[in-house]
Amino acid sequence: MIEIDGVTVAFDDVRAVEDVDLTVDDGEFLTVVGPSGCGKTTLLRTVGGLQEPTAGRVRVNGRTTDAARANAEIGYVFQQHTLLPWKSAVENVAFLREMAGKPADREGARRLLREVGLEGFESARPAALSGGMKQRVAIARAIHLGAEILLMDEPFGELDEITRERLGVEIRGLWRAERKTVVFVTHSVPEAVFLADRCVVMESDPGRIVETFDVDLPRPRTDEAYSSDAFQEQVAAVRAVLHEDRSNPSTAGTTLTEP
Ligand SMILES: Nc1ncnc2c1ncn2[C@@H]1O[C@H](COP(=O)(O)OP(=O)(O)OP(=O)(O)O)[C@@H](O)[C@H]1O
Ligand SMILES: [Mg+2]
Repeated sequence: MIEIDGVTVAFDDVRAVEDVDLTVDDGEFLTVVGPSGCGKTTLLRTVGGLQEPTAGRVRVNGRTTDAARANAEIGYVFQQHTLLPWKSAVENVAFLREMAGKPADREGARRLLREVGLEGFESARPAALSGGMKQRVAIARAIHLGAEILLMDEPFGELDEITRERLGVEIRGLWRAERKTVVFVTHSVPEAVFLADRCVVMESDPGRIVETFDVDLPRPRTDEAYSSDAFQEQVAAVRAVLHEDRSNPSTAGTTLTEP
């Protein structure tokens, strides 16, 4: 369980995250969506213990983020992949787990590479992989660490829409099979809705939560969900919140028109 209480992160005069309260239950798939610069990465880094909050606190499984991280309870997939260029795919997957002092499990690393669709690429170095394949290795690495909490920062950010949708279905499948708690950051509204049990919408300057949606779409989710009416309606509801002009209440909820 992740408990975020009154977290503010300020950089000089930028309030990247302001007074965020959020609890993520065990086994939940939570997405965070918002425009560029609204503090999504900063919030995720705070949960992962990579960024100290200016105010407030984060507890992971009842302990400090440092304690949880030292115990390899948190896996992180960064916005830009951080694979080691001189190691093969399978060595990259295995590396973090071995660094964390857990028993090596090369067979498990190979199995995860197969599950993310990279059978046959076990020995390939990152330079020989496409952007999407590198992100798949990074996802496999985070799962292989064995952490029950996975923090994912726009892991599909550089991928085309078709690959994103396909990986979205896969990541939900992995999440169910491996019983993880996931916080997934994205600026894509359809992706945030498709993946979520619960979707948190942020706005920028200051970065804060403006709305939380429970996403009630069929489970397990298949790519058919993308064309359902329920999905389109949920996407529209999230978009409406993102496009609301909160600085001018009289225009709230109005439709954007091409000038
Ligand atoms: N280390 C830092 N020092 C100073 N300002 C920072 C730092 N990290 C983030 N910021 C600022 O905090 C705000 C939020 O940044 P953040 O990276 O969290 O946004 P984001 O929502 O992840 O954006 P994107 O979707 O583009 O990745 C931005 O205004 C950014 O300039
Ligand atoms: Mg970011």
